Amino acid sequence: MSAILFDRIDEPGLATIDVYTRRGGYSALKKALAMPREAIIEELKVSGLRGRGGAGFSMGTKASFIPGAEIDKYLVCNADESEPGTFKDRELMQKKPHQLIEGMIISAYAVGANRSFIYIRGEYVLQAEMLERAIAEAKQAGHLGENIHGSGFSLDLVLQRGAGAYICGEETGLLDSLEGKRGNPRLKPPFPANEGLYKGPTLINNVETLATVPPIIEMGGAEYAKLGVENSAGTKLVSVSGNVQRPGNYEIELGISSREIIFGLAGGPEAGRSVKLWFPGGSSSPVLTADDLDLPYDFDSLAKAGSMLGSGAIIVVDDSVRVVDVALKLASFYRHESCGKCTPCREGTNWTVNMLERVQSGEATPMDLDIIASVQEQIIGNCLCVLGDAMAMPVGSLVAKFRPEFEAHIEAARERNGLGASQPAVEQPVLTI
Ligand SMILES: Cc1cc2nc3c(=O)[nH]c(=O)nc-3n(C[C@H](O)[C@H](O)[C@H](O)COP(=O)(O)O)c2cc1C
Repeated sequence: MSAILFDRIDEPGLATIDVYTRRGGYSALKKALAMPREAIIEELKVSGLRGRGGAGFSMGTKASFIPGAEIDKYLVCNADESEPGTFKDRELMQKKPHQLIEGMIISAYAVGANRSFIYIRGEYVLQAEMLERAIAEAKQAGHLGENIHGSGFSLDLVLQRGAGAYICGEETGLLDSLEGKRGNPRLKPPFPANEGLYKGPTLINNVETLATVPPIIEMGGAEYAKLGVENSAGTKLVSVSGNVQRPGNYEIELGISSREIIFGLAGGPEAGRSVKLWFPGGSSSPVLTADDLDLPYDFDSLAKAGSMLGSGAIIVVDDSVRVVDVALKLASFYRHESCGKCTPCREGTNWTVNMLERVQSGEATPMDLDIIASVQEQIIGNCLCVLGDAMAMPVGSLVAKFRPEFEAHIEAARERNGLGASQPAVEQPVLTI
């Protein structure tokens, strides 16, 4: 497979406009500016490109939702990259900032947006500096600004740094933050395509999604759609971390086996260790086990297995790690990051941490595991945004798949504390939060 996003990724100077242009950069922009807007959206639809930020929604379809009317419209690039385990956008922005900028200009032109923003997570200082430099170069070259290359299309691009909050990666929380407010999610609908930034129609996409647009315009949507598998077209950047010997970002063709990624590319766990569980799409995806390693890595196969491709971040946990610690670490992150706006998320993440702490310290009984599972069920689908679900799905899956280990941990900890074995479980009233 030839690389699309990571093509020449480590070539010195590729972050500069000179080298990027010498390697064919900005030719897709010139091609796009000569095309009718609808034709670009059609190419995106035909390409089958699905959002790379987590939800996997068709980019072309989302772009087609932006009304055609001559009103203020916006394009926003989600560069918050806050999902634990995800670090692919970082490498793209650092090494190929112009490919993102070019993708943004083409996408803005396609939907008729004259103002665009990159919202980048606050911790990405180097990447923000590189992007600032690249934006200045693009302006200087006439790719941004008034009447771009005589097309009559004008575009302004502003980089905005966030202050480090997971919730500001959620698209409506991001928009509130961009407007200068506290980053809280909005009630949907209306969706950003109809009412987004400053209440104007807004196309919001992830860095990787937007950086894939120039190659699609260059090669044509139909050609791009030949890569990957049905319903999961193209290539994907996967960030592999955790207990593997070669952690890092890899560009794969969607549909290859997960084992090939975890073992073939990332080297698998250290000798003598085995995969206990893995998160296929960031820390918010339900966990899979060693039995699932031969699953094709694509949107549908992972969904059918009860999990999701998410942001494409694979976190591998080997048999040296206690599952209770994984669950507690996860839940603590989501409790810390919950914005507190809706009750199921605010209370649910807090009580889950409290209960897991009891499990860890040996104050719990196996009955508490039922209560933890029930709380997760009550969070899923009941929050203002999916931050609550992002904790409930993996924690629920850990309790369901590793219950014997949780129970053994509880009994061993009770023994150490001198509490004696727990009593057999009795029928529990359903806990309502
Ligand atoms: C709590 C939360 C955090 C999110 N964080 C990110 C993020 O850091 N980066 C991102 O691209 N999408 C993130 N998303 C998904 C966005 O809401 C949205 O789906 C995405 O920006 C759309 O772009 P795409 O269609 O190109 O994937 C997050 C969603 C939630 C609920």
